[in-house]
Formats: sequence, structure tokens, C-alpha cells
Amino acid sequence: MRELLTKLEQATALDRVGDRLQRAVQGTLRSQRVRDLLHGVWLGHPLHPAMVQVPVGAWISAAVVDLLPGQRRAATALVGVGTASALPAAVAGLNDWASLARDQRRVGLVHAAANVVGLSLYAGSLVARLNGRHGMGRALAYLGLSAASGGAYLGGHLAYKQGAQVSQSISELHLISDGWHPVGDLSSLPQRQLITREIDDVSVILYRHGDDVTVMLERCPHQSGPLGEGEVQEIDGHACVVCPWHGSAFRLNGGEVVHGPSGNDQVILPTRIVEGRLEARLP
Ligand code: FES
Repeated sequence: MRELLTKLEQATALDRVGDRLQRAVQGTLRSQRVRDLLHGVWLGHPLHPAMVQVPVGAWISAAVVDLLPGQRRAATALVGVGTASALPAAVAGLNDWASLARDQRRVGLVHAAANVVGLSLYAGSLVARLNGRHGMGRALAYLGLSAASGGAYLGGHLAYKQGAQVSQSISELHLISDGWHPVGDLSSLPQRQLITREIDDVSVILYRHGDDVTVMLERCPHQSGPLGEGEVQEIDGHACVVCPWHGSAFRLNGGEVVHGPSGNDQVILPTRIVEGRLEARLP
């Protein structure tokens, strides 16, 4: 299985379809507001993994209820809930997928295809049940569950092995030792400019506004882009750093993500001034 997954990650033959689908998704989901909504920016957490709980839960429940006598209506309702809720979850997933790295998109494409097969089988199951063909409905639902389980397995690989939509910056925190670390003299820091420094070999950005200084991890939570090379922009009245790679934006006075594709906030380190010297520590 590991070999198969590695081959899938390297399957360049999928790129033609993947690139076309990526263009289609980006061309359809043009509104930044809609993309941010689907990425989970408002939640500070990727939305797709949370949304898939509903169809997966409903479909697994239907599989159990289908084994019990006299539960046809309950099973039909569960299949209906799962099928209807899978559609918005799929749209959120496609929106995330379109901004993944190429090897992640290959696995994501097969993950999506397995789920489309699963969803189609469940839609067929729902139609069969509503027409009184419950035996057929059950059979299609179990086939759908098999396909969706394969899709879920690949989704797990995408997140846990390939790190898709997982915060890429959080592991940097584990490299910083406890205690306060000197970062520089306050008087030497220019106003409203991004400066890059290191704490225990971990790159951080500094942004001074008056006597307030933000110390933020430099590595972008989305795909490790260098925030120190990004631009500072005013967004909704807040100074934000915009990642130079894919445009995720993070508030400099709190680290909250304000534009995706990152669905995760960025880490800010607490600071203090001691005799004119700026110090930072782990949150
Ligand atoms: S690396 Fe993708 S937005 Fe920063």
C-alpha cells in the first residue's frame, strides 16, 4: 500500500486532468469572499474536514440501521442527509485542493474521484429507496460506503502524510526553547517594516508599530512560504502580512488568518521590553 501511495504521489499522468480541473475550480470560485468562506478562514480552521463529518456520520449510521428490522424510513432519511451534506463538503474540498502542491493534488484527485463514485452510489441508493426498492437501496449504499471509505483513506494520507491544509508553521514552535529570548534593541527596529530574525534557528518576523512589536513565525502555515518576503497591507482596518506565494493574509496584531488559502491562523510569540531590549518567548 505504501508503494502504491508513493506511485500515486508521483503519477504525472494525472496532471493533465488535474491542471484542467484546477483551472476550472479557480475560474468558478473567483470571489475571494467565497473562497475564504470555504477555506474556513472565518473559523480559523480548515472547513472541509469538519464538514465531512456529517455525510460520513450519516452514511455509517445508515449502514448500521440497514441491518435492523423495520428501520427503512430511518435508513432512507440518513442516506438523504448524507447525500445532501456531501455536496457542500465536496465544494469546500475542491476549493482547498485547487491550492495544493502538485503531488498533493494527484492524491487529492483520486480522493475526490472515489468520493464522487461514493456519492453517485448513495444518490442511486436514495432514488431506489424512495421508489420502494429497499434491497437495491441497501446494496448501493454498501457499495457507496466502500468507495467513500477508500476516499477517506486517501484524505487521511493527504492530511497526515502529505500535510495538506495542516499548519506548516506549528512544528517550528517545538524547536524554540523555553524562556525569554532576546530579539533586538527596540530603538534599532524601524516602524511599520517587516524585519526577519532568528530565535533558536527558527525564523521569525518582527513588525513595529509605535512601541508595540509583533513577533510572528515566518514560515507560512499554508505551505511554508517566507512571510518575511511578503507585503504589509491594510485589510479591514488591520495591518496584515500577505504571503508572497499564494496570498494568504494574517493580522499582524493577532495572527488571525484573514484571507486563504491558509485555513489556519499564524503563531504570534508574546513579547516584553527589558531595558530597551525586545524579548520573545513561546506562547
Ligand atoms: S505558502 Fe501558500 S499562502 Fe503562504
